[in-house]
Amino acid sequence: MKAVAVFPGRARSAHLADLPEPQVESVRGERGVLVRVLRVGLDGTDKEINAGAYGTAPAGADILVIGHESLGIVEEVGPAVTELQPGDLVVAIVRRPGNSPYDAIGRADLTTDNEYFEHGISRLHGFLTERYFDSPEYLVLVPGGIGGVGVLLEPMSVVQKGIAMADEVQQRLRIWRAHRAAVLGSGTIGLLATLVLRLRGAAVTTFGLDELPYRNAEFIKQIGATYVSTRRRGLREVADGIGGFDLIFEATGFSPLVFEAMCALAKNGVLVLSSVTGGGRRIEVPADSVNLNFVLGNNTMVGTVNAAREHFEAGVRDLALSESQHPGWLEQLITHVAPGLDRFGDAFEALARAGTIKAVVEVNAPEGGALVGQAAARAAAS
Ligand code: BGC
Ligand code: ZN
Repeated sequence: MKAVAVFPGRARSAHLADLPEPQVESVRGERGVLVRVLRVGLDGTDKEINAGAYGTAPAGADILVIGHESLGIVEEVGPAVTELQPGDLVVAIVRRPGNSPYDAIGRADLTTDNEYFEHGISRLHGFLTERYFDSPEYLVLVPGGIGGVGVLLEPMSVVQKGIAMADEVQQRLRIWRAHRAAVLGSGTIGLLATLVLRLRGAAVTTFGLDELPYRNAEFIKQIGATYVSTRRRGLREVADGIGGFDLIFEATGFSPLVFEAMCALAKNGVLVLSSVTGGGRRIEVPADSVNLNFVLGNNTMVGTVNAAREHFEAGVRDLALSESQHPGWLEQLITHVAPGLDRFGDAFEALARAGTIKAVVEVNAPEGGALVGQAAARAAAS
C-alpha cells in the first residue's frame, strides 16, 4: 500500500513509501473500522514537517507517514461497531491519548505531556495513505451531503476549539457576547474562523497582509465580513476607531502581532492564540500599556491547539450550516486538488505558491465520480 512519508528532521524528504496493508483480521475482531482515504489536506504543519523543522516518527520507525487533515469512507466495520457502517464518510481525530490526567479524561488536546501523539505529525503515522484502521472512538461521522468539503473538518475543529475556549473563559462575565470580532490571518484557519464567527452573528473584521484585489478578501466579503490589509491600516488603528474587539482570533503565525492584539481588545475582551510558532523571534514591547490594558480592561488571553471530539462535532454542524447559508462557499477554499497519492508533490508546490488556500491530495475518487459539496451537487443537478 502506498503512502507519503518523510524522514523527520530531513529537509524535503517527502517521498512515496510502501506500507503493509492494515490488518483486516483485527477489523473483523470487534470494534475495528477500516477506512479508505478519499482526500487529505496539507497545511503549514506539513510544510514544516517536510522542511525538516517539525515531526517525529513512531517509536522504532525511521519514517513518518504525513497527513492529518483527512476525509475517508468506511469500508468495513467489526461486529461490535454500532456508530458507523460501510459507506459512511469519516474524519479521524488527530491527537491520541498520552499519559497526563487530561488524556485520561478523553481530552488529549489539553495534554500536559511534552511528548504527544498526533497522527501525521508526532509519533503516529498519518493519513496520506490508501487505507487506515481505527476505532470508532476516534472517527467523526460526516453527513454525506457535506461531501468533499469534509476535508476541511480538521482545520475547522481547531477553529471550533479556539472559540469554545474563549466562550468557556468568558463565562466569568455572565452576559458577555462577541459582538465585534477580529480575525488575524486570512489563510484557511482565518477564513474558517471568520465563517464561524459570522455564523454566530458577530461583526467580523479579518486582517491579512495582501492588498486588494485579493481573492480571499472576496470570500470574506461574501459572508458579510470585512477584510483589512494591514499594509493599509493597522490592527490598533482599526480597533481604536471602534473601541476595541470583544474577541480576537490570532492565526497568522507571526508572534509579534500578539502584543499588538493585546492592545486591541475591548473591555472584557478575549484574545485567542492559535499559531504554532517554532522560531526564536524577539521584539521590544510597550510593556506598561500592554499590561495596563489587560488590567483595566478585565481582558483574558487563551492559548489553544488541536481539538477534541466535541470540536469536530461542532465543526460538522457549522460545515452543514455554512452549506445551507452560503452554498458553495466552502468548496471555493479548496483551490488545488492533486489527482492521486503519487502527485503529492503538486500539492506541496501549490502550498508554496501565493494564492493557494487549501491544497488537497485526492487519494481515491469515491465510486460514482467526484466528491462534491451539497451545494455544488445541487447546482450540477439543476
Ligand atoms: C494540527 C493540529 C495539531 C497542531 C500541532 C496543526 O497543524 O492541525 O491538530 O495539534 O498542528 O502539532
Ligand atoms: Zn493542521
